[in-house]
Amino acid sequence: MKVAFLGATKGMGRALARLMAERGDELFLLGRDLPDLERSARDLEVRAGKGRYGTAACDLEKPDGFAPALDAAEAALGGLDAVVVSAGLFATQDRLEEDVELARRVVTADFANTVVFCEHARKRLLARGGGTLCVFSSVAGERGRKPVVLYGAAKAGLTRYLEGLDHKFRGRGLRTVCVKPGFVKTSMTDGLPVPPFAGEPEAVARRVLRAIDRGQPVVYAPGMWRWIMLVIRSLPRFVMRKIEF
Ligand SMILES: NC(=O)c1ccc[n+]([C@@H]2O[C@H](COP(=O)([O-])OP(=O)(O)OC[C@H]3O[C@@H](n4cnc5c(N)ncnc54)[C@H](OP(=O)(O)O)[C@@H]3O)[C@@H](O)[C@H]2O)c1
Repeated sequence: MKVAFLGATKGMGRALARLMAERGDELFLLGRDLPDLERSARDLEVRAGKGRYGTAACDLEKPDGFAPALDAAEAALGGLDAVVVSAGLFATQDRLEEDVELARRVVTADFANTVVFCEHARKRLLARGGGTLCVFSSVAGERGRKPVVLYGAAKAGLTRYLEGLDHKFRGRGLRTVCVKPGFVKTSMTDGLPVPPFAGEPEAVARRVLRAIDRGQPVVYAPGMWRWIMLVIRSLPRFVMRKIEF
């Protein structure tokens, strides 16, 4: 599979890119830090044991660079079978409430700019008759919740967009995979209190890769979060106002 990958330098993205490289997928890495991207590409080449992985600059906060970055990936790979987006910004609700500019950046990057990146990816995949668009959203988008009011709102918008894409374009060969991680131990959650059912990036990556291969439209990871969120979605508003979850 020929894959353009935004966000493979850390966390769940890195774990997923490693699994893909190990089984022989051809990757082209996109990200904002070129030296870091190069290091990740060399690491993946060692794991793959063959080939050379290209890189191009792509900052989720700079949408003008999205089309050129995907063009570079397409040209280097000789086509695209899949695009993966695991890049995302996070900040705690306390920080976001204090700093409106940071809130603007997080909401813009995680919703508007991710959607714009996906639109560029969608057009390229559909032009080739389809493919897979796998995007990391979050369980934070399932319900309006006190600890993730702003981040969760951005991910809610992203989840709905991916659902709409799946409904509209699956028949034309676009397989949209929306990943909804629960709490996973990565650099993003470093320093936060670890709740029960926290996941490891490697286990999440295995689950996501299975979903990509099956073209599963939604995947919760770790799997337990599917049931946790089923309960949370069914709680009445007066209960949500009382609890701190
Ligand atoms: N960890 C969790 O508990 C959790 C839960 C729910 C959803 N998620 C979502 O899952 C995805 C992966 O999270 P993670 O925990 O694996 O995060 P992570 O370890 O912090 O990795 C985030 C990745 O995004 C990249 N990135 C950040 N800002 C970027 C920008 N402006 N432009 C381009 N790339 C950028 C980072 O690249 P750099 O190396 O340049 O920083 C890194 O590769 C995110 O969308 C996150 O919102 C995570």
